[in-house]
This record gives sequence, structure tokens and C-alpha cells, in this order.
Amino acid sequence: MLLQKLTEKQFKDIAKLVYDKTGIHLEDRKLGLLSNRLRRRLKALNMTDFAEYYRFINSDKGFKEEESHFLSAVTTNETYFFRNDQLWKFITDELIDHYIQTKKSGRKSIRVWSAASSSGEEAYTCAIVMRELLPNFSTWDVKIVGSDISNNVLDKAKAAVYNDYAVSKTSPERIKKWFVQKDGAYHLKDEIQKMVEFKFHNLRDSMAKGTYDLIFLRNVLMYFDVAMKKRVIDVVTEALAPNGRLIVGDVDPIRTISELSSHMTLEYLRPGVYGKPSITGVDASGRKQMVTT
Ligand SMILES: C[S@@+](CC[C@H](N)C(=O)[O-])C[C@H]1O[C@@H](n2cnc3c(N)ncnc32)[C@H](O)[C@@H]1O
Repeated sequence: MLLQKLTEKQFKDIAKLVYDKTGIHLEDRKLGLLSNRLRRRLKALNMTDFAEYYRFINSDKGFKEEESHFLSAVTTNETYFFRNDQLWKFITDELIDHYIQTKKSGRKSIRVWSAASSSGEEAYTCAIVMRELLPNFSTWDVKIVGSDISNNVLDKAKAAVYNDYAVSKTSPERIKKWFVQKDGAYHLKDEIQKMVEFKFHNLRDSMAKGTYDLIFLRNVLMYFDVAMKKRVIDVVTEALAPNGRLIVGDVDPIRTISELSSHMTLEYLRPGVYGKPSITGVDASGRKQMVTT
């Protein structure tokens, strides 16, 4: 049984690799936690020390082989359906209506991106809410993308089979309506599953420009340093469609870090929610006129 911990130097080397690959900033106090998580990998790979493991993941071939396990070991994937009931109350009571109103005259299509989706609970919660609240649902074209850097959680998202914890904040009525309970697990019904697609995406890379009417970016910014937070804010701002909404959730570092709030070009609408203006025309001097509705 391996009881050793990473040395400070090994921790720093691995933390640098994690930062280069993901943008996640591992604070020094995570040394013990990371040692514990990687010890399991050493055991699985039959390796005797962290130096050997580092040499392995620091090579192109080794990283490719170990990527999923390594990223699972360094990421926090905590999530569940209807996480933050205040937020989902705002979405069901007010935000869905924003889309019903703004899509009245155009194509009734809604594109959603759950960025850093983990195992899919956030993306599927959004699908459930839209399925329940959009009037004459069959006349709407709703597509939701969930993305993450960890293939392990993406596989879970695609399987859409959940445990008690995942549905602990879901009402019994919704569980009954949208899940099939089998062998102690909750299988999400196809009708909801088919509204969502999952794919690998690193938040540091651009997504389709001007595409998404709604982007969730919750419980992930806190793992990044300021430079990476700014980069991710740029990525989601660019991906948002005119009149779209960005939800960063209750842990909103943008308002509390002045370097980030001055960097943000989206309009602050309410705690955790930002809006992208729509272009309403051009003024006499050719300047675009923008408004957030
Ligand atoms: C705590 S979970 C958040 C899940 C969900 N958004 C929620 O709020 O319930 C954070 C997720 O961010 C993902 N993540 C971390 N760094 C990432 C990056 N650079 N690109 C994409 N996803 C990343 C992790 O793999 C993890 O699944």
C-alpha cells in the first residue's frame, strides 16, 4: 500500500501540467487531495511512485492514454438536477417567458449550451423545464449542448442513468414524469434525453459564434485564475446570440473581482445573470444601436 504524498516539486510539476491542459489552477493546499486521488491511479497502473507517473503523463503517448483518468482525478464534478432552486425558480418564472416573447416573430428555435456540464444534470434540467413550459412544445426547435473536459463525466451524461443524490432536489412529480426507476437507479426518459447532445470541449477554445440563446457557466470559473477566467468570459460572450442570456449562478466571481467586472461586456441583469444586447439598427453616423430586452 502506497502511503507517500507528492513532494512539493512533484505537486508543482503536475499543477503546471493541469494548468496547461485545462486552465485549472490547483492551489498549494490541494497537495494532500491530489496525492490521494493520484495514488489510486498509481495502483491501477502498477506504478510504485509519483515520479514514474509524472514521466508517463508528461509524454504525449502517456497523456493520451491516461487523459480521462487524469482529468477525472483533477476536476471536481459535483452536480445534481435543479441545483440552486432560486435560480431554477427565476428560469421557470421569468426567463422562459423572455424566450417566448423574443421568439414570437422569428423562428421558434432555442439553442442552449451547458458549458462544463459534468454528468449532464444541468443540461437535462434545462431540457425538462423547457419541455414543461414552452407552449405547444412540438412547434419549437430546442437544442441543448452539454460540454466538458472530462470524458468520464461525458460518458455518464450520455448514459443518463442517475442515483438518489442526483435527483435529491427533483420533485416526486417530476421524477415520476421524466424518469423510469429501475434497479435502484433513475433512467431519464428518451423524450428528454434526445433534446441534449454532449461533446468534449475545453472552455479555453472558441465555440460557434453568436449561436446560443442561453449559456450556463456555473460552478467552474472558481477553479481558474484571472487570466483563464477572462478567456472563458470572452469565449461565452462570443458564443452568445444577440438577446441571449449568460447564467453564472450564485457563486459569481465576475461581480466580486473588479478586473473581471471591468472586462465583462455583457449587461448585468440580476445576481448571476447577464444579457447580450440585440442590434436594433444603426444611427445616422453608422454606429450600431444596441438594446437588451
Ligand atoms: C463542479 S462541475 C459543474 C457542473 C455544473 N455546471 C453545475 O453547476 O452543476 C465543474 C465541471 O467543470 C469541468 N471543467 C473544468 N475545467 C474545464 C475546462 N477547462 N473546460 C471544460 N470543462 C472544464 C470539470 O470537468 C467539471 O465537470
